[in-house]
Amino acid sequence: MQAQQQGPLQSLDEWEDDVHARYPEPDKSFAPHKDTAEFRNYEKSTRPSVREFYRINHQFQTYGFVSEKQREYGGRTRKQMSIWEAMEFLNTLVDDSDPDTDLSQIQHLLQTSEAIRADGHPRWFVLTGLIHDLGKILCLYGEPQWAVVGDTFPVGCKFSDKVVFPDFFSENPDGDHPVYSTENGVYEPGCGLDKVALSWGHDEYMYQVAKDYLPESALYMIRYHSFYAAHREGAYQHLMNNHDREMFKWVRAFNPYDLYSKSPVPPDVDALRPYYEELITEFFPAKVAW
Ligand SMILES: [Fe+2]
Repeated sequence: MQAQQQGPLQSLDEWEDDVHARYPEPDKSFAPHKDTAEFRNYEKSTRPSVREFYRINHQFQTYGFVSEKQREYGGRTRKQMSIWEAMEFLNTLVDDSDPDTDLSQIQHLLQTSEAIRADGHPRWFVLTGLIHDLGKILCLYGEPQWAVVGDTFPVGCKFSDKVVFPDFFSENPDGDHPVYSTENGVYEPGCGLDKVALSWGHDEYMYQVAKDYLPESALYMIRYHSFYAAHREGAYQHLMNNHDREMFKWVRAFNPYDLYSKSPVPPDVDALRPYYEELITEFFPAKVAW
């Protein structure tokens, strides 16, 4: 069975391509960084489907919506699957992009993990690269694209203008709420991100699935890898504690592998499978609750 995605994007990759355009790989020849004007031009040059995606994402990700999704998925009662089975499940997700030029979802996962492995990082880090996007199976449960991917941001407090396309928050009903629209909202200043609800998507869902099995550094990478306003733009410091600031070095260490790990040769899934099956067994039980 193949499942179509609901939303304006041709594929989930279209959002990721947009993040890549927003944060281009630093030039290793030490050329000057893109200036602010060029960064602003990014918004103008964003393609219509991606703009529309951000618009509805910012409109509908409210504190109430996120609370409801946390309740719905928090019990993880949908499926019992091994990690590899979840990879194969994600692979059934089809999109409108050209199947001849695009990698499968499993190949995407393997590109990230193989780049981490090639740099000699620890095994938990390699495994994190493999599984960090598995929460995209939310699409296969019928969740719309805006509730699966996209930059994440806190809800229940004022939206930062460091979040991509901040103007679109004007359509979010929480913007007029007497508590949710304030700087700290429902949170205590410096309470720590663990107490802060982020917009719902594949990051938080996969964190919930993996939280009993991986080291904390890995869990930070999974949970906050799309939180660009924080790990790239430095926003939301007022909600973070010192432990978050310390752990965010891992989130930043992970980000280049998420954005820049395109390999010239597509990963050979069958050849790599034995290595990864062994790696998965080292950390996860045979069946995991999803
Ligand atoms: Fe992701």
